[in-house]
Amino acid sequence: MKALVLSGGSGTRLRPFSYSMPKQLIPVANRPVLEYVLDNARTAGATDIGVIVGDGAAQIRDALGDGSHLGVRITYIAQSRPLGLAHCVRLAQDFLGDDDFAMLLGDNILPGGVADIAGEFTARRPAAQVVVHKVADPSAFGVAELDENGRVLRLAEKPARPRSDLALIGVYFFTPAIHEAVRAIAPSARGELEITDAIQWLVGHGAEVRASEHSGYWRDTGRVEDVLDCNRKLLEGVRYSVQGEVDEHSVLAGPVVIERGVRVVRSHVQGPAVIGAGSLLDHSSVGPNSSIGRDCVLRDTHLADSIALDGASVTGVRGVHGSLIGRHARVGPGKGGTAHHTLVVGDHSTVEVAV
Ligand code: DAU
Repeated sequence: MKALVLSGGSGTRLRPFSYSMPKQLIPVANRPVLEYVLDNARTAGATDIGVIVGDGAAQIRDALGDGSHLGVRITYIAQSRPLGLAHCVRLAQDFLGDDDFAMLLGDNILPGGVADIAGEFTARRPAAQVVVHKVADPSAFGVAELDENGRVLRLAEKPARPRSDLALIGVYFFTPAIHEAVRAIAPSARGELEITDAIQWLVGHGAEVRASEHSGYWRDTGRVEDVLDCNRKLLEGVRYSVQGEVDEHSVLAGPVVIERGVRVVRSHVQGPAVIGAGSLLDHSSVGPNSSIGRDCVLRDTHLADSIALDGASVTGVRGVHGSLIGRHARVGPGKGGTAHHTLVVGDHSTVEVAV
């Protein structure tokens, strides 16, 4: 089985991050979301993986390379505009050939993996198998209606009035029957070739389409609050490991990872937390549920339940909470030490201040 991982698109809900980086590269517990997706493809049995890339292609190639460090072989497939999930399958037809394949959305995290469901698909080999999860508000997702035996009766993409509470969660298994379906459909009202329409086409032509319910943890990391929630979840798996330097005035408590070249000086780190290589914590308190990227600097700062991306620095701010701080962003007092707040905040950023 091959895999197709979708990592193009625009990511408007993750602004301002998505202006400068593909949303699939946002780090969660200090690993890009996309690496968790590739792990799931591999454990589902696919090592030959096509990755659809759009505007962020160069950064994604830099991050993943040929995939060998993750135990997979990557073929990059360029998509000039986000014309829809089914458009991605059309583009990948040469790569996929006559093989069965798993299709995984590059921004959806299922930490428990999908190996069991891949096994069900391989054993029974329906034309398509989707993965669903019960959600409170299905109207934000593709929605599946099933019969009592797990067979899909109908699918709808972000319906205003959902007919079930079962959302599609970004993992699909297909036989080559899907290629005729993606060629047959027309763009939807929002101008995209929808994979839900292609699967519905299969249902309408009498093909067997099945659904498996995933009851474990799942998040679409399209919004900041979901990225932070995922960070909390994935940090649950952290094991104590210290490779950097920790001075005698500092305390590490609970599951904490201190990577190479880190210096912890007069600071307290409360796990679960990960401190990326080359970072400095000086007179600060970090964690729990915090991921600090590489080469960050935290001075006189209290930070919890947050993610700082590579090169970020925070000085003199106590009570940073529920925050996502971008690459090389600087938060702290001005050079002149004035009483003013001086903000250089990118488009669509959020700054919430205590008053
Ligand atoms: O998160 C699950 C939902 O994902 C499903 O319930 C929906 O049925 C499915 O359509 C999708 O909805 P989203 O609105 O969340 O899709 P998004 O535009 O975020 O794209 C999902 C991934 O696919 C993301 O990594 C970007 C990539 N993509 C998307 C499009 C439209 C591409 O690579 N090319 C594209 O043309």
